[in-house]
Amino acid sequence: MRGRSESDLFQHLALACFFLVQPSAASEPDPAALFATHCSSCHGPGGNLNPDSPVVQGLGVVPADFNDPLFNSREPGHDWKMVIEHGGAALGLSEKMPAFGDTLTEHEIESVVTYLKGIPGEHDYPDGALNLFLPLNTIKAFPEDEVVWKSDYVKRDGVDVWENVFELEKRVGKRGQVLVELVQSLEDGDSDLDKIEVGGKYVVHTNAQNTSILTAGSKFEFPIHGGEEEWLPYLAFGRILNSEFTFQGHTRAKLPFNDFGDGSFEVAGIVHWTHSPWPRNAFPGLEVLAEFPFDRGNGPNRSDFAEVSIIPQVRFGLTKGGHVALNMGVQIPVNERDRFDYVAQMNLLWDFADGPFWKGW
Ligand code: HEC
Repeated sequence: MRGRSESDLFQHLALACFFLVQPSAASEPDPAALFATHCSSCHGPGGNLNPDSPVVQGLGVVPADFNDPLFNSREPGHDWKMVIEHGGAALGLSEKMPAFGDTLTEHEIESVVTYLKGIPGEHDYPDGALNLFLPLNTIKAFPEDEVVWKSDYVKRDGVDVWENVFELEKRVGKRGQVLVELVQSLEDGDSDLDKIEVGGKYVVHTNAQNTSILTAGSKFEFPIHGGEEEWLPYLAFGRILNSEFTFQGHTRAKLPFNDFGDGSFEVAGIVHWTHSPWPRNAFPGLEVLAEFPFDRGNGPNRSDFAEVSIIPQVRFGLTKGGHVALNMGVQIPVNERDRFDYVAQMNLLWDFADGPFWKGW
């Protein structure tokens, strides 16, 4: 008898445990199974895209291959989350990519994104989550393919100078980038191609959580109409502080070929408020720039050797996916105020790896 009731008790306990455990077991999603059920018809089993399958052929647009480490790494997971929740059209992609916000929970979508990110296995490409907003002055650490038009309007009593920079940045290899810049200035109505700049950078480190990135780079400036050639080596750093804020900073030396001692040292940093997951939005940032000339003289102002300015700015994501963005701000001198009254600055960026300029407005 005794044995019997004991085993009954166990049965009841086991049953109770089963029902207690069941709900929490069910709430831990299996992303591979979710993917097989909801996604693989178009994206291929396990994310192995089959461009020849009749389903894919019928879409009219071929989805990208999650197995391609370059593509997979460069797209930020938070954008994928938005695409899966709200559908392709919401971020300027094809409307053939359905919205799953009503089918899957947020937790399930997040687990699928983590699963997708893991598909190519171990690789050396830095993660696109670290492709932070391009600041007006601080150097971006992430090596994205970009075309940038920068424009500066310097207001100084007497002379006003308008400077335009056209910049092409192209990724090379897994962590590198090369760039070419053409600098044009307009002074008193005289327009001139002023300088050519060439350079490159390399991602030295990203942390395992993909929240920080460190890059070493170098740029050479060649004035066209005489003037000093310069070498500008730098370190650029980026960090996602939390879901609301990012930090970027750089330290850079400006070394004239003729005499390094005539050069200067520059430090810049910016905090952006990333208040929304929607790329087409306005994101304010506050930037600080300080330049320390090596030769600071011996006079009474010797201690006054840093030239500091602040640059409040706003980044406007223009396209739905944010691959075309405008950044505008004003540089205001904090000290040594006779340098300039203010500099109106802007840059217009086109991340050309994400599609043509006109896509997704
Ligand atoms: C009916 C076909 C179809 C289904 C089902 C589908 N997708 Fe897609 N998906 C697409 C297409 C087509 C695109 C490409 C859109 C473009 O490039 O314009 C796409 C794009 C994406 C992207 C964006 C990739 C990029 O270019 O940045 C992600 C992420 C994605 N799909 C994830 C999923 C997930 C996860 C599921 C399942 C929960 C899923 N898709 C189900 C067709 C589909």
